Amino acid sequence: TSALKHGEFVGALDCGTTSVRFIVFNKFADIIAQSQFEFPQYYPQPGWHEHDADEIQEHSNKCIEEAVKRVEEAGWSKDSIKVIGVTNQRETSVAWSRSTGKPLCKAIVWTDSRTKNTVAHYEQKLKNVGIQVAPGVWKKGQEGVDAIREITGLQLSTYFSAIKVRWMIDHYPEVAKAHEEDDLQFGTVESWVAYNLLGGVKTNIHITEVSNASRTLLLNVSTLKWESSLLEFFELRPSCLPRIVSTSENYGNIVGGALDGVPVGGLVGDQQGALIGNKCFTQGEAKCTYGTGAFLLFNTGESIVESKHGLLSTVAYQAGPDAKPVYALEGSIAVAGSAIKWLRDSMNIIENAADVNTLAAQEKDSGGLYFVTAFSGLLAPYWDPGAAGLLIGISQYTNPSHIARATLEANAFQTRAIIESMKLDSGSDLKVLKVDGGMTNGDLAMDILANIGGFSVVRPEMRESTALGAAICAASAIKLFGWDMAKPETLKGVNDHASSSFDPNGLDEEERKKRWEGWQRAVERSRNWEE
Ligand code: G3P
Repeated sequence: TSALKHGEFVGALDCGTTSVRFIVFNKFADIIAQSQFEFPQYYPQPGWHEHDADEIQEHSNKCIEEAVKRVEEAGWSKDSIKVIGVTNQRETSVAWSRSTGKPLCKAIVWTDSRTKNTVAHYEQKLKNVGIQVAPGVWKKGQEGVDAIREITGLQLSTYFSAIKVRWMIDHYPEVAKAHEEDDLQFGTVESWVAYNLLGGVKTNIHITEVSNASRTLLLNVSTLKWESSLLEFFELRPSCLPRIVSTSENYGNIVGGALDGVPVGGLVGDQQGALIGNKCFTQGEAKCTYGTGAFLLFNTGESIVESKHGLLSTVAYQAGPDAKPVYALEGSIAVAGSAIKWLRDSMNIIENAADVNTLAAQEKDSGGLYFVTAFSGLLAPYWDPGAAGLLIGISQYTNPSHIARATLEANAFQTRAIIESMKLDSGSDLKVLKVDGGMTNGDLAMDILANIGGFSVVRPEMRESTALGAAICAASAIKLFGWDMAKPETLKGVNDHASSSFDPNGLDEEERKKRWEGWQRAVERSRNWEE
């Protein structure tokens, strides 16, 4: 109504693995209003993890509507929201029909490991046939593996989208038919959500943002174009692929709903979003986000650093259609917060996720227990789809507090494993790690991270870095607040709040080394368990 004040805000829709949220920020990155909704998770078979793409969209719409209501309740008109950005769980793959705009099957989530045999098939194909990287030039065996890594920055793994789409085509006749008839539209979650926000089947804006595209196994990370040799290798028709767009530009206006007519100006994978939200714009800066999984990204500037130690090279962002891309080295851990959810929902040893800290605090150490949280194999730096979840060192003495502690330690050990690889790849040591994400709310969890890991941990006060990252991309596209992600100095004063830090002083080097060796032995035992 007319009594409402007019302000200038930016909105960020964060479509995560287990919930969607919408956060409205002002020019200081203060939160004006927010809303969050969990949406259903489907685990129809061991190793399978699905989402209903329509449910992601419905919850996103509901979430925007609710947050807009709260903006008005706070006394602001909704037209104060000038632009929005979208950030998302990456790799999760959606297949829908160009002609109807409807999903053709459930989305396969990034954690899903059903595609192990598809990966094995393509490993075999690399061995026997190879990949044609230029007319008449074939790379076979290890050379083929290296070629794929050089082109995409990635490993052949169940984690990445091309493998998931291939599986859909191979197992669902309706997806195969749509593929054959050029009616299939594939997209990661930002692609699906942007398609719907921008008008769906009527406008058919089928786009994908470049940091998300860099997680498909189909993008050439040097040219930022789809790589035809990989499309041929995975037998995918180019017609199913979205148009690649930059991280920050005006993609079009929202059609319908609470924010009808508002431009969408930013799309970014959630981990890259957190890198931006933490303002790690300079080469050498790094952050680790502890959400469902944990993801450590290390800004490598305009150069692609190729990992020889199990990390990924990924696009961090492209600040506009004509901007040069910025790259990152990434260590991805599949299970972080989800292990705590498992303690809560399946083991019933805690009531709320935050209780893991209280329970773990009842013991001073894990009592010799190690928990390799390989719920769907292990990602970086191990890349072992056959690794099995393992609790080792159990005795009569073991109690739930030891298990809670070992769960928090598992995070710390996996983070350390990634930092060790990063050291080897980049030649530089990471003495301080910036962290965010739900799990970092617990002081004990952070203390364990610092002590087991052997580095200092810095935690900002405002930890909505992922959403803030999307907001920065969106605001930059229309130069709202004078923000420009290509000129980090324009973001001075944005989320420069105080932070707390945790130092590794509680454990001596000898003990830290002993625990680290114990972890490595535990990982060895968990490996190659499944055929
Ligand atoms: O690569 C998967 C990642 O983007 C998921 O993030 O925060 O939903 O665990 P999150």
